[in-house]
Amino acid sequence: MSLPSHVRLVEVGPRDGLQNEAQPISVDDKVRLVDALTEAGLGYIEVGSFVSPKWVPQMAGSAEVFARIQRKPGVVYGALAPNLRGFEDALAAGVKEVAVFAAASEAFSQRNINCSISESLERFAPIMEAARQHGISVRGYVSCVLGCPYEGSIAPEQVALVARELYAMGCYEVSLGDTIGTGTAGATRRMFEAVSANVPRDKLAGHFHDTYGQALANIYASLQEGIAVFDSSVAGLGGCPYAKGASGNVATEDVLYLLDGLGIHTGIDMDRLIAAGNRISEVLGRATGSRVAKARSAT
Ligand code: HMG
Ligand code: MG
Repeated sequence: MSLPSHVRLVEVGPRDGLQNEAQPISVDDKVRLVDALTEAGLGYIEVGSFVSPKWVPQMAGSAEVFARIQRKPGVVYGALAPNLRGFEDALAAGVKEVAVFAAASEAFSQRNINCSISESLERFAPIMEAARQHGISVRGYVSCVLGCPYEGSIAPEQVALVARELYAMGCYEVSLGDTIGTGTAGATRRMFEAVSANVPRDKLAGHFHDTYGQALANIYASLQEGIAVFDSSVAGLGGCPYAKGASGNVATEDVLYLLDGLGIHTGIDMDRLIAAGNRISEVLGRATGSRVAKARSAT
């Protein structure tokens, strides 16, 4: 299969990246990050989550962030919603697209959203209904598609079942997350082959973490499988509060460098992206997690 000529990047840094940070990050800094990502040309930015603040305190100010960002026409500003309450709060904050999140592993589902996989899917049904009424698009996530911190290996068929349910209930796209970053290129290809029996490839996205340094290899393997949407996080921000040891999401800068080298178009400005990532890294008081940003910023 030839590689896609265009790839869409879903920037998850402000949400998946920052949700795990223990230190308080001001609304100002979050707004500045989202605005800088808009200016860098990202077409989709996941801005926050409407989840329980007891479970993920860092996302508590998401409504305020949404109120203050500069929205650019044509750019999607999305948010996570785990239940109808979260959906309603998102709607009230002016969110036009939400994401629901399920897991391929029962144990992770319990730890992350306190219910079984099938209960989570039942919880999403009223969100889908309300979203239809309000003309809101819903994206779906499946976590732990290439391994679980509690259950170990996950069968591709199990991922395919959960992805099929999300697609069947109306998610326009299903993002498959290697939450703990243990996946390899071979496992990635097998997983997409299994899932694409249930969901068309052009409705699938890849979401890779770089814990074992495999994320770019897995993205390349996914491109070879015809996948053309990837989630990534500026400066490699991230980890997961319910997956101990999971390092950051793959850095957007590094994915962009890979895609640029393949002649694959994204419309993203590397210099602005690096500046956005370096600034939030300064706020967090640590070096960027992007190899490209490190190399380009070294003098
Ligand atoms: P629960 O405790 O079972 O829910 O949590 P509950 O219905 O019993 O409610 C408990 C309390 O939370 C109540 O408040 C509710 O009002 C409140 P209290 O009476 O105790 O004061 N509550 C809410 N508050 C705000 N917004 C809401 C909401 N819902 C209930 N929407 C629940 C269940 C799903 C709420 C909880 O487990 C939760 O919020 N989990 C979120 C976990 C999360 O955000 N994880 C990270 C995102 S997933 C991820 O990162 C993976 C992904 O990025 C892919 C990858 O990286 O691979 C997607
Ligand atoms: Mg992630």
